[in-house]
Amino acid sequence: MSLRSPSRLLLLCSLLTSSLAKSAEPAFRDPPSEAVDYVNPLIGNGGSVTDKGNDTPNGKSGGMIPSTAPPFAMTRWVAQTRQNYVSLTPYYWSETTIHGFQGTHQPAIWMGESGQVVVSPGAGQVQPTFEGRGMKFSKDSEIATASYYSAEMEAKDGGTIVAEQSATPRVGHLRFSYANTSTPYVLIEATRASILGAHNTSNVTFPEGTVFIDPTRREITGSNPERQDIIIAPISTPAKQWSGYFCARFNRDISSFGIAQNGTLYPGQATGNGPMLSGYVTFGDNVTEVDVRVGVSFISIEQARMNLDMEIQDGDRLEDTARKTRAAWAEKLDRIKIVGATEADKETFYTAFYHTLQYPSEQSEYGRYYSGYDDAIHEGTSYTGYSNWDTYRAEWAWLIMFAPERIPGMVQSMLQDYKEGGWLPMWKNIIETNIMVGTHADSLVAEAALKGITGFDRETAWEAVLKDATVPPVNDNTVIYGDRQQGVDYEVRAGLSSTYAQNGWVADDVHSESASRTLDYSYDDYAVSVLASLLGKTSEAEFFRNRSLTNPFTIFNNVTGFMEARKANGAWAGPTRGFTEGDKWAYTFDVVHDVPGLIEHKGGNASFVAFLDQHFDGGHNDHTNEPSHHIPYLYSLAGAATKSQSRIREIAATNYNNSVNGLSGNEDCGQTSAWYLFSALGFYPVNPVSGEYVVGSPFFDNVRIAFPSNERTLDIMSFGAPSRPYVRSLHANGRRIEEPVLTHDQILNGGLFMFDMSSEAQAWGSGTLTI
Ligand SMILES: *[C@@H]1O[C@H](CO)[C@@H](O)[C@H](O)[C@H]1NC(C)=O
Ligand SMILES: *[C@@H]1O[C@H](CO)[C@@H](O)[C@H](O)[C@H]1NC(C)=O
Ligand SMILES: *[C@@H]1O[C@H](CO)[C@@H](O)[C@H](O)[C@H]1NC(C)=O
Ligand SMILES: *[C@@H]1O[C@H](CO)[C@@H](O)[C@H](O)[C@H]1NC(C)=O
Ligand SMILES: *[C@@H]1O[C@H](CO)[C@@H](O)[C@H](O)[C@H]1NC(C)=O
Ligand SMILES: *[C@@H]1O[C@H](CO)[C@@H](O)[C@H](O)[C@H]1NC(C)=O
Ligand SMILES: *[C@@H]1O[C@H](CO)[C@@H](O)[C@H](O)[C@H]1NC(C)=O
Ligand SMILES: *[C@@H]1O[C@H](CO)[C@@H](O)[C@H](O)[C@H]1NC(C)=O
Ligand SMILES: *[C@@H]1O[C@H](CO)[C@@H](O)[C@H](O)[C@H]1NC(C)=O
Repeated sequence: MSLRSPSRLLLLCSLLTSSLAKSAEPAFRDPPSEAVDYVNPLIGNGGSVTDKGNDTPNGKSGGMIPSTAPPFAMTRWVAQTRQNYVSLTPYYWSETTIHGFQGTHQPAIWMGESGQVVVSPGAGQVQPTFEGRGMKFSKDSEIATASYYSAEMEAKDGGTIVAEQSATPRVGHLRFSYANTSTPYVLIEATRASILGAHNTSNVTFPEGTVFIDPTRREITGSNPERQDIIIAPISTPAKQWSGYFCARFNRDISSFGIAQNGTLYPGQATGNGPMLSGYVTFGDNVTEVDVRVGVSFISIEQARMNLDMEIQDGDRLEDTARKTRAAWAEKLDRIKIVGATEADKETFYTAFYHTLQYPSEQSEYGRYYSGYDDAIHEGTSYTGYSNWDTYRAEWAWLIMFAPERIPGMVQSMLQDYKEGGWLPMWKNIIETNIMVGTHADSLVAEAALKGITGFDRETAWEAVLKDATVPPVNDNTVIYGDRQQGVDYEVRAGLSSTYAQNGWVADDVHSESASRTLDYSYDDYAVSVLASLLGKTSEAEFFRNRSLTNPFTIFNNVTGFMEARKANGAWAGPTRGFTEGDKWAYTFDVVHDVPGLIEHKGGNASFVAFLDQHFDGGHNDHTNEPSHHIPYLYSLAGAATKSQSRIREIAATNYNNSVNGLSGNEDCGQTSAWYLFSALGFYPVNPVSGEYVVGSPFFDNVRIAFPSNERTLDIMSFGAPSRPYVRSLHANGRRIEEPVLTHDQILNGGLFMFDMSSEAQAWGSGTLTI
């Protein structure tokens, strides 16, 4: 049975019946927003944990946590059902104890945690250990929305504690209501034993932090330098000074306080430092409600306190915070209105929308930011959580469309990383983590420039992408640069110096993931050429364009008809060598910037379509991972649009729903949801730096979009679409569209797209197909 219907039902029930929910009602019903009401943060959680410690046997489930925070918030807050680390998130739906509420900076399941703080309520005997803190909670009482979370827990020494939670970008707001409990207390955990690897949970380190308790200010402050992905960061930017800082302020007088360390309580002690460290405060026996706000910073405790004062005033109630955060989501999500979707589809759609607006997350704090690249504080706007290998595909296009106000800052942030660390980010999580291959920041920058985004320094952008395309990493010919290799420097385009630049391919006997690298570098070269053209650098544009169109086919084996890795001497390395997170099937379709060239290599439209059929019918399309995402749209570029239309519908139906397991693959900072959202609208950015979208099959009768960049409105009319997947014709503002392609400008200009839908395959866009 799917989670969604019971959970939604429960949510409504508790809204209507529970007195707690009634008092909290304004917090998540005001301002009114149908879109935000459909968000269910439990969708795509993955639900349960296997013995291996991974979230699912193949580690593929959504990995989303029911966190509260506004869009792109620096810190997200979540109930903690277990200790998180690389490949494990802090909350699993099937688990039944809550050990605290975590201000988390884990942007995706793979990255592990950084600088978190945990707030754990209790009553009676103070419980300093993770196990001891755990309280059973009733799933029926759980309310999870984008802006407000609550659950009722059984206190250890009897009675109940209802926890409620909301958050602003840098401040968590929590309220604990105690009923029939013994003396209420709140413990704030600074440091813990940190598990470094998913495959060996006894391999732990002991980050050393600080705690200070100031009863006069009713504050617990402190720091936590834990960073679980530090082991894979480039060695030249070790970010030694990096730490999370916090300032927790209570709304009541404190009766007593103490430090807890490694399981032992030190009552009356106000400061502590070292590993496994917490601070706690107790309240009067007659206290029934405690409100605590926790400002978080990457700069200092003082800055954490400033963030608190900037974002939530003393005396502000949790409802005020929840209302503000709900309004921030409504401003985004209400921009798309849907007619003709089921309740379930709306829940899937708006939750996907909510997923796409979480990362990159803010790293700057009121005009200043800590940079791990040079271990210094700078002025400016900064973001972190760039999963570029995933997000360059469609998530970035989605952000350009629906969060355009963020794009200049997000690009400028990457340019600062370049200035401070020497390179644009690949997968920035506080600092670089060298995860996955390619320098797809090139694509992000080029796409932003192509789509007319201003407000970042284009000359620095050019300098940075040119470096990606021309400067190899250190020891390029001696270091393998394997996946998540430790103790190396920036990976960037490993393999660039020798064979890629000279012969066209990355040599499989020198570098890991060589075939994927060859194709990804080629695409990135294309992005570099696009930026060069925009900047009037004609000869550079021509050079990189040429390389981008030539190199992919140096690994096309025209005997087998597949992309295949090659060794330095040119010999084929074998059909299973050199692919990352995909195989020869997915990667043979991976020339998004030259689909006509690819079609030609596969013998023309008819045989390319037959190859696509073989790919899908043979079960080779793996939508749970990104390399397959664009493939169903390729039919449309080979004169078989009707086959795109049916495949897209099938993929959407089998990989997305509104259950706790409703994402078949990892969310990957929004890319998985961005596929669904664009597909539901009826178009997808196959080549992100082309400014074009390939038309698929809109899912709903009518979608109305109000674009934030120009306040224009686009109506996508496709009556009957829910039961009619095929397109008979498409008119954009009255003009008949012949090829299944729309441009960014056409979309942004708004007006009316009229799809004539049919339940049977149609000739439109399907010239080479016999229907
Ligand atoms: C607290 O205990 C009283 C007396 O046993 C009971 O009537 C009341 O329902 C309890 N309150 C809660 C919230 O459990
Ligand atoms: C513990 O993990 C670290 C980081 O991955 C690794 O370098 C180290 O070898 C591991 N130690 C053991 C004993 O497995
Ligand atoms: C796991 O890590 C612990 C502590 O670092 C080490 O003693 C142990 O040998 C490791 N186990 C395996 C299977 O690597
Ligand atoms: C924690 O305490 C245990 C014994 O209670 C001890 O063996 C261990 O070394 C301590 N760990 C730290 C990090 O202090
Ligand atoms: C709690 O009890 C103390 C005395 O024990 C009293 O001074 C205080 O006013 C009481 N507070 C509330 C909120 O009832
Ligand atoms: C690339 O440049 C070479 C040398 O000028 C030329 O022979 C080749 O046709 C060009 N390839 C493409 C795809 O433009
Ligand atoms: C096929 O590949 C070989 C080298 O691998 C090349 O000599 C030949 O020209 C290619 N044929 C075509 C049709 O591309
Ligand atoms: C292949 O299909 C595309 C898309 O319909 C079309 O533009 C192109 O002309 C076709 N190629 C040939 C050789 O027919
Ligand atoms: C929801 O989607 C997941 C992942 O694709 C799938 O495993 C599950 O069976 C689906 N559930 C329902 C009720 O459709």
